[in-house]
Amino acid sequence: MAIERTFSILKPDATKRNLTGRINTCLEEAGLRIIAQKRIQMSTAQAEQFYGVHRERGFFHELVTFMTSGPVVVQVLEGEDAIAAYRNIMGATNPAQAAAGTIRAQFAESIEANSVHGSDSAENAATEIAYFFAGTEIVG
Ligand code: CMP
Repeated sequence: MAIERTFSILKPDATKRNLTGRINTCLEEAGLRIIAQKRIQMSTAQAEQFYGVHRERGFFHELVTFMTSGPVVVQVLEGEDAIAAYRNIMGATNPAQAAAGTIRAQFAESIEANSVHGSDSAENAATEIAYFFAGTEIVG
């Protein structure tokens, strides 16, 4: 196992329902450390670029609208196998399919308002972290 970094977003449904502390408790209890964090209002241009890989999908416009509908908390997480560990804790994208005890099973409202985002690969983690954080903002 290796120490990795991954990128996390607490989505607008989570900030709106005041769930950021409860979700981050789940992460910390699983051994992940929050080594960078900021609360931001994502712009449409930022959301479109961040989710650019989904541009051709039918849900793209709604996804961008949702991600800009309120504040989000962007974070860098560090820990043993952090990318897979965080994805396990998040659970399946669709909360109806998420395993019991996962963040999405506990908190998500729908496949769109699914409370959290996490990088799906080391390459994407590096890209996504660099998209929102300068190196000086990450304190491991
Ligand atoms: P996320 O991990 O942030 O990456 C893309 C997001 O698109 C995903 O979580 C979902 O919240 C959202 N989304 C909305 N509709 C769908 C869908 N039908 N299939 C997959 N993802 C969807």
